[in-house]
Amino acid sequence: MAHSKGKFPLSAKIQAVRGMKDILPEQTPVWRYLEETVRGVLDAYGYWEIRLPIVESTELFKRSIGEVTDIVEKEMYTFQDGDESLTLRPEGTAGCVRAAIENGIIHNQVRKLWYQGPMFRHERPQKGRYRQFHQIGVEVFGLSGPDIDAELILLTARLWRQLGLLEHVQLQLNTLGSAEARSAYREKLVAYCRERFAELDEDSRRRLDSNPLRILDSKNPAMADLIQGAPQLLDHLDEPSREHFEQLTRLLEMGGVSYVINPRLVRGLDYYGRTVFEWVTDRLGAQGTVCAGGRYDGLVEHIGGRSTPAVGFAMGLERLVLLLTEGAVSRTELPLERYTPHAYFVAVGEAPERAALVLAERLRSSLPRLRLELNMGSGGFKAQIKRADKSGARFALVLGESELAEGQIGLKSLREEGDQRSFSEAELIDFLAGQIAS
Ligand code: HAM
Repeated sequence: MAHSKGKFPLSAKIQAVRGMKDILPEQTPVWRYLEETVRGVLDAYGYWEIRLPIVESTELFKRSIGEVTDIVEKEMYTFQDGDESLTLRPEGTAGCVRAAIENGIIHNQVRKLWYQGPMFRHERPQKGRYRQFHQIGVEVFGLSGPDIDAELILLTARLWRQLGLLEHVQLQLNTLGSAEARSAYREKLVAYCRERFAELDEDSRRRLDSNPLRILDSKNPAMADLIQGAPQLLDHLDEPSREHFEQLTRLLEMGGVSYVINPRLVRGLDYYGRTVFEWVTDRLGAQGTVCAGGRYDGLVEHIGGRSTPAVGFAMGLERLVLLLTEGAVSRTELPLERYTPHAYFVAVGEAPERAALVLAERLRSSLPRLRLELNMGSGGFKAQIKRADKSGARFALVLGESELAEGQIGLKSLREEGDQRSFSEAELIDFLAGQIAS
């Protein structure tokens, strides 16, 4: 990637790097809801979290993603650290495989792992495509049958159902066959493209020798005709891969997951073989793939481990958040109350303020699940009630001089009409306990 040296006058505002977005407090509840839902599903299927570095040696990505891919050719954030070349991870599979080999955790055993975090690709930013973006990824090692491919897809389908997104996404499936079948097919495809060389765009001409399967993935409308007529890998499959694919589709049908076979689905990373899949939506414009993955049985050995079958996928969290908030579901339909306080404590006057600080602590001790925000920085009753309303809380607890004198706490509903009620501390605890439970 190119670096430009800009001059920053001292008075100039320093801005975020292009394509790298802040996720603001108003947005984080949706992110947390999404992440917690995904984690819940992964826990329910018996997957374990692995936490991985964001920086890896450049060589790892070159060797795993492939030298002649968009990511490695032009999208990596690479820098020199002494005499080492390092790269901000553009995806999680390579690092996960590296860690699994290095720590000896996949030898002779099955591992079902997941990870989460930022990835970096120097792409042209647009809606749903950023230079820093976030994935939750899943990788399974040690299983070669179609049952695990099916489980991964069923798991994602369950997730979409829980999020209310299932009817807005479509599963596209393909198989890339064995390495041998692919290389025989590759020759046929190259021969076909050479015959129609004049129709190839510049990118495809470049890929003809290095990575011809990627020609099928071209989004250039001028290439559509040529791609349509190209020989299909599905017709050149080896028998074991065909069997694997057929069993997978049968399992999906039994599991009630519908799919579309897309023979032109080749994926942009070189490590795949056999099953590949993408969940796509038409609600996000050009960046419609929300989750993608497949089988990569050769990768562990390729980067220095013992031959181990593997399969996985990653979902793009920005795209799912977009789908949840403006695409498919309206933000108001999301269960986000759990991220706002149950109650906001309004305390007016010096002595009530001091008393409220102590009382709030007692309430928190009595009700560990209570989310209680205590007003800070004083303020009159009206100003504090405004803050209480803005906090999203359902109730305001009110402590003024008169309540303090009477040993009572006021409670005002912020979401429904009604008079302020008065409780003793014990009554208030009972009342709040009931509210938290409901
Ligand atoms: P990928 O298709 O490159 O696969 O990325 C997976 C998902 O990450 C995409 O479907 C998309 O939702 C999201 N994504 C990718 N690039 C961007 C971007 N620039 N901005 C926003 N979202 C983006 C992988 O990364 C593989 N490691 C998946 C995998 C895991 N295969 C096997 N195991």
